Amino acid sequence: NAMFSWQRTSFHFQPMRNWMNDPDGPLYHMGWYHLFYQYNPDSAVWGNITWGHAVSRDLIHWLYLPIAMVPDQPYDINGVWTGSATLLPDGQIVMLYTGDTAELVQVQNLAYPANLSDPLLLHWVKYTGNPVLVPPTHIAPKDFRDPTTGWIGPDGKWRITIGSKINGTGISLMYHTTDFKTYELLDNVLHAVPGTGMWECVDFYPLAINGSMGLDTSAGGPGIKHVLKASLDDTKLDHYALGTYDPDSDTWTPDNPEEDVGIGLRYDYGRYYASKTFYDQYKKRRILWGWINETDTEYDDLEKGWASVQTIPRTVLFDNKTGTNILQWPVQEVESLRQRSTKFEDVLIEPGSIVPLDIGTATQLDIFAEFETELLESAGEEEGYSCKGGAINRSKLGPFGLLVIADDSLSELTPIFFRPTNTTNGTLDTYFCADETRSTLAPEVQKHIYGSTVPVLEGERYAMRALVDHSIVESFAQGGRTVITSRIYPTEAIYGSARLFLFNNATGVNVKATLKIWQMNSAFIHPFPL
Ligand code: FRU
Repeated sequence: NAMFSWQRTSFHFQPMRNWMNDPDGPLYHMGWYHLFYQYNPDSAVWGNITWGHAVSRDLIHWLYLPIAMVPDQPYDINGVWTGSATLLPDGQIVMLYTGDTAELVQVQNLAYPANLSDPLLLHWVKYTGNPVLVPPTHIAPKDFRDPTTGWIGPDGKWRITIGSKINGTGISLMYHTTDFKTYELLDNVLHAVPGTGMWECVDFYPLAINGSMGLDTSAGGPGIKHVLKASLDDTKLDHYALGTYDPDSDTWTPDNPEEDVGIGLRYDYGRYYASKTFYDQYKKRRILWGWINETDTEYDDLEKGWASVQTIPRTVLFDNKTGTNILQWPVQEVESLRQRSTKFEDVLIEPGSIVPLDIGTATQLDIFAEFETELLESAGEEEGYSCKGGAINRSKLGPFGLLVIADDSLSELTPIFFRPTNTTNGTLDTYFCADETRSTLAPEVQKHIYGSTVPVLEGERYAMRALVDHSIVESFAQGGRTVITSRIYPTEAIYGSARLFLFNNATGVNVKATLKIWQMNSAFIHPFPL
């Protein structure tokens, strides 16, 4: 549908048409990255869920392959739902996924590649003994889904964990297995948090406390923290926490109980859900995929004939400067799309002003921006500011930042900004925010003001990176401590009319901005000529 062509992204992964949700079973095999995804081959709304399949040499350019698995068995006839890959030491690949059965019961199934020497892993075989796991007696039949990647404990047994809930308490069930066909349910759960509801798409993995490498999911021992992530079904938000895993008891304890899973940190404060990591054994890094769900109406999705995209894959590291959060950063390969760049140094933005950045069309960009502030008068007592009220809510110290996907008349614009603010205990907190309120003139599109605090350490400038791709903006503050993804649908700020501006809406500071901005090429995302 040509009418909506400008709304499609140019370097984010999306099927050619129809509905996509969660990333599934990402893995690297024989030179190819594989992405599977929840896919409705018949329509742009959820239903009839299969596993779509695409491969890439570099996580940026993709080839669509035939659907890997369809609902064709009693144990998955109502949907081949989310699952994860485990690479075994002998080179085998184990795929565990949730099947929605003929009786609408959620069960776990095993599948494996028909031919391991096929780099494209085109054909998948479902194990004849499926299902390999059914809901335990104390678990409701519709609260048992999305098995994780397996990891090996010190006793040589494999572990997997599966999200669920009991009486509103989000939990993750623990299983041991040696062959991925038969399993032992442990008496204890990996972790539980009251009031957080059903945990979907649980992810559990180690991060090195020091160092820039990722770790295999089975890595353990000293110098390691474990991330536990749950996608909260009640709020559709991906929450994580850092903590310590005890492989003997198979329990995980959060570093900070007040920032436990579901009540503390989030991967992404914008449009983002059902994420999943995998260990890239080729480049020794942990890579995070996330589903960017839609903000447009179902009616419009059907008109377009497609719905939702995946984020640019992000590497995940432990932030050993703060010790309290992870760092997310777009995989380095996205930089291969960079073309012409423009630099701006020490651009002065006075209170209440907007400065255009002369870079031409601003629909496909990779932006690095650093900001320094200079206090014009005593900051005084000023408390209680956050992202609330958005970019028009002026305070002494903020907001300031970028206006992306804006047209010359500013009829449409999306501010991505910092707001430092004094706290009652005399310290400074900085919020990182995205204000979609004026991102589109289309009334039916959802518009949110997103954001959260971001640690800004002594001596650091305010720093952000933004990947702009027509209708998607992925924004990373302070090297990826806080991340916000926006799905916006401009109607005026499109093609050659899309511009980029700096703004400072603070009342009490001058802001100086230094930027490097690249025009981004489109990625090659096409069917594989089979
Ligand atoms: C998350 C989710 C999963 C489920 C899948 C079904 O978005 O609801 O829990 O397996 O999507 O498509």
